Amino acid sequence: PVRRAAAAAVRRARDLGAASIAVFMPPDGLSPRERAQAVVEGAWLGTYRFEKYLKEKNSKVVRSLTLLEPDRRSAAGAREGLRLGRVWAEATCLTRDLVNEPANVVTPTFLAGRAGEIAKEGGLTLKILERDDCATMGMGAYVGVAQGSQEPPKFIHLTYKPKSRARRRVVIIGKGITFDSGGLDLKTADGMLRMKDDMAGAAAVLGLFQALPRLKPRVEVHGLIAATENMPSGTAQRPGDIVRAMNGLTVEIGNTDAEGRLTLADALSYAVKHIEPDEMIDMATLTGAVVIALGQGVSGLMASSDDLAARVLGAADVAGERTWRLPLHDEYKDGLKSDVADLNNISSQRGAGAIVAALFMREFTGGVPWAHLDIAGTAFTERELPLGPKGGTGVTVRTLLAYVAALDGRR
Ligand code: BES
Ligand code: ZN
Ligand code: ZN
Repeated sequence: PVRRAAAAAVRRARDLGAASIAVFMPPDGLSPRERAQAVVEGAWLGTYRFEKYLKEKNSKVVRSLTLLEPDRRSAAGAREGLRLGRVWAEATCLTRDLVNEPANVVTPTFLAGRAGEIAKEGGLTLKILERDDCATMGMGAYVGVAQGSQEPPKFIHLTYKPKSRARRRVVIIGKGITFDSGGLDLKTADGMLRMKDDMAGAAAVLGLFQALPRLKPRVEVHGLIAATENMPSGTAQRPGDIVRAMNGLTVEIGNTDAEGRLTLADALSYAVKHIEPDEMIDMATLTGAVVIALGQGVSGLMASSDDLAARVLGAADVAGERTWRLPLHDEYKDGLKSDVADLNNISSQRGAGAIVAALFMREFTGGVPWAHLDIAGTAFTERELPLGPKGGTGVTVRTLLAYVAALDGRR
């Protein structure tokens, strides 16, 4: 509520022409730090705009924001909240910008370049695997999706390591389809319209990694993006093709439009094999089914571990990002059986599309605790929201930051 109130108030003040704004939030249940952080996040996110491609930019902009904290004993906490709020909001806006940029700009190569800038700025390690590297390493599922596109795929691996000993090692994976045409199982015009946002999970990874070096948590975090387009062409993957993922499982392509789970299968396999994490989280604009189930205001959570699921839900609550858990009902896996391969990438049974997609991905997690956030409904908004305009929402960035902060044990 504080976040939303600050967003509404600051947006209104801006629209009335105020360039310098001072906010006083009377003490409520929150600590001074939490209150200040919520105000700054609200103000920053609520006044976000994407006008890079407009000739006439909006002249009304907020130049400065002052927080009033009359109680001297609260000043230090408020100052820390101000800093955190700004870091969290800037990371979210980086993600929004990437989602709002069109697919002719945000290619896999562009994402890799942006990862390079973020790595350089924050002193992070970055590894980029090219198409041939991925093929050699056995990522047949990912490479199969990429084979129809003129744009070279880029497998991006970012690493943040704390100076002192890390308490945990976690992997964060984002779906990075820079445009999803559906492939040979081509989408309709309506279905394809918004598919530049099919890299919103990847954008959230990059937002997170911009923030990590500024927050310095005592947690080792790896970020993975198997970036590619999904395009139809003479070289495109065909329905009925069989590919082999990095963990050895073969997959029959029942539908080339169920491409996200194929790219994520290899990212998960890579994480299990080469990083050996304590736990993994992925974010993906994965299914239309999750939009049917939960609408545009709630992200779907599916997890192989109750403990991890509870912590992700707790983090989402801190961030104010609505998230609801769906069950990984084992019986639904039967629909993924194939006559000619270990798995089919779509189900022969009706319904529960979001759960079925997650069950498919679980086959590639090697028993490592894993949580999956289906953000197909929440990554992009067709109408103005309390915390931002139409377009990319930057969803999950702040949930991830709260999750890492909780692992770090301070905040
Ligand atoms: N990127 C889409 C999912 C999506 C749909 C995101 C709507 C945002 C809005 C995904 O790759 C896809 O096409 N999924 C198919 C899977 C189906 C073929 C099993 C879907 O949900 O229809
Ligand atoms: Zn698709
Ligand atoms: Zn997709």
